[in-house]
Amino acid sequence: MAKLNVNGKVQDYQADDGTPLLWVLREQLGLTGTKYGCGIAQCGACTVHIDGVPTRSCVMPASAIKPTQKITTIEGLSKDGSHPVQKAWVALDVPQCGFCQSGMIMAATALLKAKPNPTDKEIDEAMTNICRCGTYNRVRAAIKSVAAGGKTKKAQNDNGGGIIHVADLAETERSAS
Ligand code: FES
Ligand code: FES
Repeated sequence: MAKLNVNGKVQDYQADDGTPLLWVLREQLGLTGTKYGCGIAQCGACTVHIDGVPTRSCVMPASAIKPTQKITTIEGLSKDGSHPVQKAWVALDVPQCGFCQSGMIMAATALLKAKPNPTDKEIDEAMTNICRCGTYNRVRAAIKSVAAGGKTKKAQNDNGGGIIHVADLAETERSAS
């Protein structure tokens, strides 16, 4: 029986060498918040943290991870969705279908930990996840909102239709200076 430290708990699992971490998380540990998209390290839907580093779990063999290494999945960010990145995602209505979003949140969380006030270039470099629904602008706004301390404001959308929430970018710039 092998062991993994997931979300602060050491857990047993049994899998052939080479079994991707994603399948151990989903099928043995019941942590289905981490999604399978492409299986070839391209889309980022399967992103988790290993010792704080965003990692595509679909291509990471579980057997390559030591029990001393700390794995964090979307379920481990907070018990109740109260992590600042999760709150920003809700405040800005980031998801559409939602399938890619746990991976997006895990990538954004690691980025903001390393760079609390990332530039657009740093966001582009870190956020290589793919979203078929095209939520990229809202993902960027939510990251900026967290950098600005969670501040958002309401604005008309481009069609003059509904109200959308956008990050208060002026505030982001003020806090950066
Ligand atoms: S499922 Fe892992 S990167 Fe797409
Ligand atoms: S919200 Fe649907 S794939 Fe990203």
